[in-house]
Amino acid sequence: MKVLTAEKCGFCLGVRNAIKIAEQTLEKESPVYSLGPVIHNQDVVSRLADKGLVTVESLDKIPGGTVLIRSHGATKAMIEDIQSRGLSIVDATCVLVKHVQQKAARLEAEGWMVVIAGDPRHPEIISIAGHTESAVVAETPEQMKELAGSHEKTALLCQTTQSYGFFSNMAAAAVNADFSEIRAVNTLCRESQRRQQAAKQLSEKVDVMFVLGGLHSANTRKLAELCSEGCKNVYHLQNKSELKQEMLRDCSSAGITAGASTPDWVIQEFTETIREI
Ligand code: F3S
Repeated sequence: MKVLTAEKCGFCLGVRNAIKIAEQTLEKESPVYSLGPVIHNQDVVSRLADKGLVTVESLDKIPGGTVLIRSHGATKAMIEDIQSRGLSIVDATCVLVKHVQQKAARLEAEGWMVVIAGDPRHPEIISIAGHTESAVVAETPEQMKELAGSHEKTALLCQTTQSYGFFSNMAAAAVNADFSEIRAVNTLCRESQRRQQAAKQLSEKVDVMFVLGGLHSANTRKLAELCSEGCKNVYHLQNKSELKQEMLRDCSSAGITAGASTPDWVIQEFTETIREI
């Protein structure tokens, strides 16, 4: 069995940085809370929990201490709420997400209606929209077209971890609809793009493709979606414990890629387990 790993996969700079900030904060302060999982990977969240990071779903569950803003960022209202409760803030928002938050706010201030292409339920989209007064989220080209005519000037931004194909489809829908003025701003993350390209290329060469990462991780799901275009046997797994021997049946080559929030040790353990099988 040939086992190949995608040239670019696993932790991105934003996630690596968020974990480093979380670990440094936990060494100095206690208690430290995260509103929602700090990244979308259960293995990492459990390791940080062992070091003392408490994950809560609401500010009301925080009696005092420090709140870590996760890599997806937080809305302006949320940051003000944290401050008004006298809690300290440590910001681990990815620099690129921060840049998109600022860009969205600036465009709105200049009179553009901001449309963000992506999943309206994803925390990154919520945080970006939450730095504007009235940004709208469009998930499909049809939703994009429906927004035509509602404003003089429209600026289209994109969830950082979406694929280039998704963003260009949304931009094409906008161009074909009746917008008076439309401006598409490429806010895709290069780290994410490189992982997507490497995963797609590898998936075209192997009999089975494994995509490792949290089930809620948008960028991991996107990798799995792209790999399905190149390979008919694609499995999105969290770690080696989910690997089953029958997944490798009749295969002479296996490819491995991993989302931006999947740690190196998960990839290594998974590779070793396939080799052992
Ligand atoms: Fe940031 Fe890109 Fe990672 S947006 S969190 S560097 S995938």
